[in-house]
Amino acid sequence: MNKLAFIGGTGVYNPEILTDLHSETIETPYGTAKYELGYFKDKPIVFMARHGVNHTIPPHKINFRANIYALKALGVSSIVSTTAVGSLNPDYKPGELVLVDQFIDQTKSRIGTFYDGELHGVAHIDMTHPYCPHLRAAVLDAAHREGIVIHPEGTYICTEGPRFETPAEIKAYRMWGADVVGMTNVPECQLAREAEMCYATISMVTNFAAGISKQSLTHREVVECMNQNIESFVKIITILSQE
Ligand code: HPA
Repeated sequence: MNKLAFIGGTGVYNPEILTDLHSETIETPYGTAKYELGYFKDKPIVFMARHGVNHTIPPHKINFRANIYALKALGVSSIVSTTAVGSLNPDYKPGELVLVDQFIDQTKSRIGTFYDGELHGVAHIDMTHPYCPHLRAAVLDAAHREGIVIHPEGTYICTEGPRFETPAEIKAYRMWGADVVGMTNVPECQLAREAEMCYATISMVTNFAAGISKQSLTHREVVECMNQNIESFVKIITILSQE
């Protein structure tokens, strides 16, 4: 595998598994990006905490363009990210992993492109395969080698947040074919494609989505579920970083 970056989502803030870790910042045309450099065994890896290390950046305020631009400038060629998701699919249960292969964009306020007619002009990129098939295959292989159960495909619907969805929204999204719902894969995934980097995301189902679950949702249950299952991410990333 070429130079790998790991973007940690909700519940994955502190890459304790990395050694020789130090924080750095980089100035980009889109603002400052913060990241950590470290090693998995003897392989260098870049880590980014998408919401900041203390979860202070809500989904709609993440500077996705600065983050992806920074990773590109650092020579990263492959990005594996984690996302906490709610499930709309009865077969995808809390505590399980999903390797999504498609997304639906329901975000509203985010600038999701480098091709905004300014620095990089205008272009329309193909999104037939939004997530990198090669990297997805590598993630699947790593999961199987570790005996980790992972659903090999799924459609991720990205909402604007930071609120959770209404049951009516979830019902509509299920009719559209969404399997899981989260707040961050768009525009992260599409920016990585525009920057010609391989991108895959491993989603952890932390709850059944609103209305499917009879209880109200809390951010705490999302974080708790991530904490309980973080070991699976660590095992997969460890294998990928050594390839
Ligand atoms: N909705 C949106 N984002 C989420 C959810 C959810 O139910 N669970 C974890 N992230």
